[in-house]
Amino acid sequence: MLAAMCGIVGYVGGQPALDVVIAGLKRLEYRGYDSAGVAVQTESDGTLAVDKRAGKLANLEKSLADTPLPGGTTGIGHTRWATHGGPTDANAHPHLDDTAKVAVVHNGIIENFAALRAEIAERGHQLRSETDTEVVAHLLGEEYEGDLAEAMRKVCRRLDGAFTLVAVHADSPGVVVGARRNSPLVVGRGEGENFLASDVAAFIAHTREAVELGQDQVVELRAGSVTVTDFDGAPAEVREYHVDWDASAAEKGGYDYFMLKEIAEQPKAVADTLLGRIGTDGRLTLDEVRIEDRVLRAVDKIVIVACGTAFHAGMIAKYAIEHWTRVPCEVELASEFRYRDPILDQQTLVIAISQSGETMDTLMALRHAREQGAKVLAICNTNGSTIPRESDAVLYTHAGPEVAVASTKAFLTQLVACYLVALYLGQVRGTKWGDEINEVIRQLADAPRQVEEVLGTMEPVRELARSLADAPAVLFLGRHVGYPVALEGALKLKELAYMHAEGFAAGELKHGPIALIEQDLPVVVVVPSPRGRSVLHDKIVSNIQEIRARGARTIVIAEEGDEAVAPYADHLIRIPATPTLLQPLVSTVPLQVFACELATAKGHEVDQPRNLAKSVTVE
Ligand code: G6P
Repeated sequence: MLAAMCGIVGYVGGQPALDVVIAGLKRLEYRGYDSAGVAVQTESDGTLAVDKRAGKLANLEKSLADTPLPGGTTGIGHTRWATHGGPTDANAHPHLDDTAKVAVVHNGIIENFAALRAEIAERGHQLRSETDTEVVAHLLGEEYEGDLAEAMRKVCRRLDGAFTLVAVHADSPGVVVGARRNSPLVVGRGEGENFLASDVAAFIAHTREAVELGQDQVVELRAGSVTVTDFDGAPAEVREYHVDWDASAAEKGGYDYFMLKEIAEQPKAVADTLLGRIGTDGRLTLDEVRIEDRVLRAVDKIVIVACGTAFHAGMIAKYAIEHWTRVPCEVELASEFRYRDPILDQQTLVIAISQSGETMDTLMALRHAREQGAKVLAICNTNGSTIPRESDAVLYTHAGPEVAVASTKAFLTQLVACYLVALYLGQVRGTKWGDEINEVIRQLADAPRQVEEVLGTMEPVRELARSLADAPAVLFLGRHVGYPVALEGALKLKELAYMHAEGFAAGELKHGPIALIEQDLPVVVVVPSPRGRSVLHDKIVSNIQEIRARGARTIVIAEEGDEAVAPYADHLIRIPATPTLLQPLVSTVPLQVFACELATAKGHEVDQPRNLAKSVTVE
């Protein structure tokens, strides 16, 4: 139904629109690539010519080579990274209304689409896809009275959610209209031609003069003009700027590495994963999770299987699931799972977490679980990939494509998805009251802001990381959900900086790891909130004292206002106060930044660390 993190291009000017749009889509293909499509206003008869194909852009190009579209100088295009709804020709954009006079492409999620879809169907429109986007095409067709920008404004006022829309109408030649709420949209200003795109990478071959659209704005593009208004039609302020990135920096959003870009995208990724989860009745709805409540109520054991970073998300999920649902939950490395003859039956719910949806170990684990009769729920970031295809149900994270090998934004969204699943189970099984669930949802809704806040205070962390480039090793300690965070911090450092890094449960220190402490050894400690489970906090403060007494250089990640740890911290990294279970959403971020900066200081290529692959498709 929904689409997120897609690539959008619009063009109006003197060049063949198809060439400009396809070249732009190529530059945006990194944003997603499960299908692609174009619409061009044909010069000869003023109709719209459309082609769209599932699969990579190359499939669309081949189709266009086999059956060329008539020429025209106004057009739009789209590459899709679907998060719901199969990557099929029918679900590919552009979408048309019944008259085929309007074509629209979309990036984002229209939250009230179910109601709009029902309304449109009632008025007799034929819906040909499962997308929320098609609803917009029909609404635009209804509202159009000769002014496409005005029709767009009317339609946008009716939409909830996050969206970027770009449309053309057969009866408005030489006009492309765009609208923006939350999802990005940038105008490229040329000489006698203008461009619209999800990011400047699409058009910097033509122009470097850009206009960034603001929130809730509509733009009308003609060859010689760019007119921007708000959704009510009042002229709007826009920010004009000159792009000095090269093409490769542009696709990284101006960052030196995809990893930095993806770390910075985390507030949005978290917010997107939370979008549309509360139904009109105020209850948590996970529509996509098509496992009947009856089955979920009968579950007597949950087993989470995953690899790498996703496994750490699973470890954190266990704390939330057991606390909120009282169902026993095991977490297991997917590679170990099936070889130990695990006990599974129809009452077991297996949750397979995977960014790529292609990790072979995780896939084999879920196949084994299904053979034994267990139900499998996938938490996945890649629509249509093998793991969700072979699962009974899937909850998609909306992180958008993750390019850097070391997982960052996918991890945070996996956590959000796990919290949602845990709350949902609590709701279905009656172990959590509605107001308790809403309280956690409210706290989760604040996470994007908190992550943003952490990202804004990272300079001292980067400085510290650079100063530790020659350290022989770094240890990480945590308790409760801070323990998997410590493991994740160590994994990031291993992956990127190729140095000895290990995470431990702080309580295990005196059972061995404390023997590793030497003078000046950096030890990162993730400190739980002093509020709530303060016993955890007190214990870790003792642990910090123990290692400091033995010479460790302590790097302490602690909540704002936690003064008790300050005397024992050689370096203090502050994070916003959060409920204990949700703390990993903020405490992981400094560890990502730390590993990335330390690796960069060592001269390593962080996007593609040696010996590693983004998706491990062999056992
Ligand atoms: C590889 C990647 C890791 C990732 C793991 C699991 O090892 O380098 O970053 O966490 O696979 O991948 P998945 O796609 O299943 O989440």
